Amino acid sequence: MHVTRYLKYIMIVILPFCGHAIAEPLSTPDYDNIEWPNDDPASAEMIELGKMLFFDPRLVPDENQSCASCHDPDMGFSDGVALDVKHNGKNDKRNSPSIVNLAFSPIIHWDGRSRSLEHQAFKSMGKRGVNTTFIPKIKKIKWYQDKMQTLFPDTGFTQTNMATAIGAFERSLISNNASFDKYLKGNKAALTPSAKRGLELFEGKGRCIACHDGATFSDYSFHNIGVNSTDKGRGGRVDDKTLIGAFKTPGLRNVWLTAPYMHNGSIPSLEGVIQFYNRGGDKAENRSKLIKPLHLTRQEELDLVAFLAALTDTVVVERPTIPWN
Ligand code: HEC
Ligand code: HEC
Repeated sequence: MHVTRYLKYIMIVILPFCGHAIAEPLSTPDYDNIEWPNDDPASAEMIELGKMLFFDPRLVPDENQSCASCHDPDMGFSDGVALDVKHNGKNDKRNSPSIVNLAFSPIIHWDGRSRSLEHQAFKSMGKRGVNTTFIPKIKKIKWYQDKMQTLFPDTGFTQTNMATAIGAFERSLISNNASFDKYLKGNKAALTPSAKRGLELFEGKGRCIACHDGATFSDYSFHNIGVNSTDKGRGGRVDDKTLIGAFKTPGLRNVWLTAPYMHNGSIPSLEGVIQFYNRGGDKAENRSKLIKPLHLTRQEELDLVAFLAALTDTVVVERPTIPWN
C-alpha cells in the first residue's frame, strides 16, 4: 500500500475517536468545486431564469415577498433583521442567512433539514406559499413561458423546474476575491497589520479554525456553541440528544455585511460575536467542548473583527425588470 494511502487509512480509523476532525487550511473558493446537479453546470440562460424567479414577488404568497425580500443582494443576501415577519404576520424563529457560496455547501438550512438548493427552493415556494396560486399567475407570463419552453422542452412549466432554475442562480453567487484572498495570492499588503494579527488569532489562540475552516470557513458540521436560545436546531431533526442546540457552522465570507448574527439573530454586531466567544459562550447546557473562555485582550478582540472584515467581497447582482404580463 502506498504510504500516503496508508496514512489516510489510519486517519479514517483514528479520527472518529479524536472528537473533531483536523481543520482544512483556509483557502480561496474554487469554481471547480461547485457541486452541480448531475455534474452539469447550468447555462447562462438557466441562471437568468432563476434570477428572475428569485426576484419575482409573486413567488412567495400575498404577492408581497420575493426570495430577495429576505435574501437581499444589497444586504449580503440577508435582510438585516433578527427574525423575519412571515406572510401570516408571525415571526420566523430563525435569522435569514446569506445564500452566497452555498454552491459549496452540502448542508442547507441552520438545522440541515434540506437535501439540496433545489429541494430548499421547491419547499420555500410551496410551504411559504401555503396555496399554490403563484404558479398559475406566473404561468400566464409570456417571458416565463418562452424561457421554460426553451430550457425544459420535455417537462415544461413545473414547480420542480422553477426550483432547478433558482438553484442554478444561487450556485452562481460566489464570493472569492476578498482582501484575504489577495493576501493568499501573495499581496502581503492586502491585509492591515490588525487583520494579520486577527488571522493569527483565528488560527491560534481563538481556535476559530476548529470549526470555521476551508475555503468558505465552515466545516459543514453542527455544533452547540452556547447561544441563548430554546431552539433545538439539529437536535430537533435527528434523534440524537448531543445535537440539541447545535446548528450548522455558517461560512464567514461576507459576514461583515450580514448583521445581526447567529441562528436567532441575537447578537447585533461582529464585536458582540467576538465578545461572546471570548467569554466562552452564554448557555452551558450541551455546549461544545471546543468553546471555552479565550482570555483575549481588547486589542485582540478588535484584531479578530478586522480579520473578519477582510473576508468581504460583495457579490453584485443587478435587480432584473420583472415581466408583469
Ligand atoms: C420571509 C423571509 C424569507 C423569504 C421570503 C425567503 N427566505 Fe430563504 N430563508 C429565510 C430564513 C429565516 C432562513 C433560515 C431558516 C432555517 O435555516 O431554519 C432561510 C434559509 C434559506 C436557505 C438556506 C441557507 C443556508 O445557509 O443553509 C436558502 C438557500 C434560502 N433560504 C433560499 C430562499 C429562496 C430560494 C426563497 C424564495 C423561493 C426564499 N429563501 C425566501 C427567510 C426567507
Ligand atoms: C465549535 C465550533 C465553533 C468554533 C470553535 C467557533 N465557531 Fe463561530 N460558529 C459556529 C456555529 C455552529 C455558529 C452558529 C451558532 C448558532 O447560531 O447557534 C457560529 C457562528 C459564528 C458567527 C456568526 C455568523 C452568522 O452568520 O450569524 C461568527 C461571526 C463566528 N461564528 C465567528 C467565529 C470566530 C471569530 C471564532 C473564534 C473566536 C469562532 N466563530 C469559533 C461554530 C464555531
